[in-house]
Amino acid sequence: MIKEDINFKEAGRFEETRFEKIHNVIFDSSKEASLLVAQEIANLIQRKEELNEPCVLGLATGSSPIKVYEELVRMHKEEGLSFKNVVTFNLDEYYPMDKDNIQSYFYFMHEHLFNHVDIKAENINIPDGKVSAEELRQYCIDYDMKINSYGGLDFQLLGIGRTGHIGFNEPGSHVNSATRSITLDHITRVDAAPSFLGVDNVPRKAITMGIGTVKNAKRIVLLAWGISKADIVKETIEGEISSQVPATYLQEHSNTTFVLDTEASSELTRVKTPWLVKSCIWTDELKLKAVVWLSGLTNKPILKLTDKDYNDNGMSGLLAEEGTAYHLNIKMFNTLQHTITGWPGGKPNADDTYRPERSTPAKKRVIIFSPHPDDDVISMGGTFDRLVEQGHEVHIAYQTSGNIAVSNDEALKFAEVSTVLNSASTESDSIIDFLKNKSENDIDSVAVRKLKGLIRRSESLGATRYMGVPDENVHFLDLPFYETGTVKKGNLTDADIAIMCNLIEEVKPHQIYAAGDLADPHGTHKVCLDSLFEALKRLKSKSFMDDCWVWLYRGAWHEWETYEIEMAVPMSPDQVLKKRYAIFYHQSQKDGVMFQGDDSREFWVRAEDRNRATAKKYNDLGLAEYAAIEAFKRYHF
Ligand code: F6R
Repeated sequence: MIKEDINFKEAGRFEETRFEKIHNVIFDSSKEASLLVAQEIANLIQRKEELNEPCVLGLATGSSPIKVYEELVRMHKEEGLSFKNVVTFNLDEYYPMDKDNIQSYFYFMHEHLFNHVDIKAENINIPDGKVSAEELRQYCIDYDMKINSYGGLDFQLLGIGRTGHIGFNEPGSHVNSATRSITLDHITRVDAAPSFLGVDNVPRKAITMGIGTVKNAKRIVLLAWGISKADIVKETIEGEISSQVPATYLQEHSNTTFVLDTEASSELTRVKTPWLVKSCIWTDELKLKAVVWLSGLTNKPILKLTDKDYNDNGMSGLLAEEGTAYHLNIKMFNTLQHTITGWPGGKPNADDTYRPERSTPAKKRVIIFSPHPDDDVISMGGTFDRLVEQGHEVHIAYQTSGNIAVSNDEALKFAEVSTVLNSASTESDSIIDFLKNKSENDIDSVAVRKLKGLIRRSESLGATRYMGVPDENVHFLDLPFYETGTVKKGNLTDADIAIMCNLIEEVKPHQIYAAGDLADPHGTHKVCLDSLFEALKRLKSKSFMDDCWVWLYRGAWHEWETYEIEMAVPMSPDQVLKKRYAIFYHQSQKDGVMFQGDDSREFWVRAEDRNRATAKKYNDLGLAEYAAIEAFKRYHF
């Protein structure tokens, strides 16, 4: 039997606790983890080649395995890894689906792996999304028989859906299920909606390898990245086996490893509340995390927690270090209290010993980086307002054009107005013609993309003018990595980093704000953040950088955990309203947007709910009651 040969345990963070029913290893980044998984696959391919046997791989699509495939392609090109003895069986395909549709898994696999390695075409097996309804049943039986004819899968690579699906085995799937057609869960279709430009375009059915087929693999590695997988990863690893979470069937497989990044592991008991499973090294951050958790658990403000509360909840070790609950409570309360400031740019002429920001210079130069043209006001509209009001020189830098998120109808509206105003415009006429005849598989023409980008520019300028920023301080960076015209973006290149560096050098900021989606594996936010980190690395030796502090707001969907917050900027009810009006300027993103996700709230509602929730958390911990709070974490580079 093929056993895990790469030492994942040593490379990542591994611990066996009584809660965990599946072997799992945690890595700081999905990249680092993906390289190891690719190495295990490469070792297997080579071992099988030496034995002169085919290497039978079960493969997955989706965002999770992309870096594994990238690394395998690199190994093929640079290290001569050959796929001549490899036979692959993909987990699934949408149904019905044409092979040449860019949404097909057939297209995905060729684009990410098969077109770049020396695998034989006849060794590639991907369920056929075009098989007729009458033939489908027999087709699925044959697919399993073909796998069995090779002696089963040597290795199965998996991702996990938020429903707990593996392959497309949605909740309800039987442990012994075979390859078959299946109706997709609504959540799965919502998750696929961005690539299909709307949930209505996502097929309702798919062909999937069964749980029984997957479980017969000799070795299984499941990849999960990002915060959106954290809940299902916990349920799968710690919960009971249930058809409602099909991935839990893997608890019965004796050679499975879950490879996780920090965010995907964040709900595991050993990560979230380590004091419940082991004795801890009590860093300041862990102390605050534990106290905030205890306050939530007991429903008591921090200053009312007792020795008994600590002792009853696995924290007697902490108490022994700190003396009494009384002392620990005060210390933690003060730590949180000191994060609150109405002066995000620092309070001039004030003692700043216990303030999140420096008091000098009193007037700071600030750059707010916004991945899309609206994240600035959605994520930090209140803080933005204070920075301007308090006289700082505020620059806004929109990193991408955001053109992909403007609907065709919206663009058509502007193009039609433009032809009326400008009767001789052939450009508008060609745009109108393109949009009226556009089919599902078409990528927007350059002219259409330009128009969509311009729509977002003018909305952004409306908002920044409303917030009191002069136009010359608003920068549209249009980073090239974004300009593919599709949901899938290019890689960061020097051209992107140079644009970032130029702006930072020009402004020489004392403060930078940026969207801190640290582990959003497929998102534009993560790429934008990487571009900033790389720029900071390149500029680090410049003297002005010594005075530059970086504050991260969390992206549009999540907020920092309370214990992570280092600057909390409260908002009055009037400021909440002002922020709302600023968000309203982004009209193409209102009243039902293209990339809605499974949260049907408008962006301004989400922003207000989130800021109100942060304020409530502070208040529940015993701190002052505010209408809303925006939260930031400092990034040390
Ligand atoms: C893909 C597949 C699915 C995905 C899962 C996670 O072939 O079978 O089970 O692995 O939906 O998708 P991502 O990786 O996009 O989060």
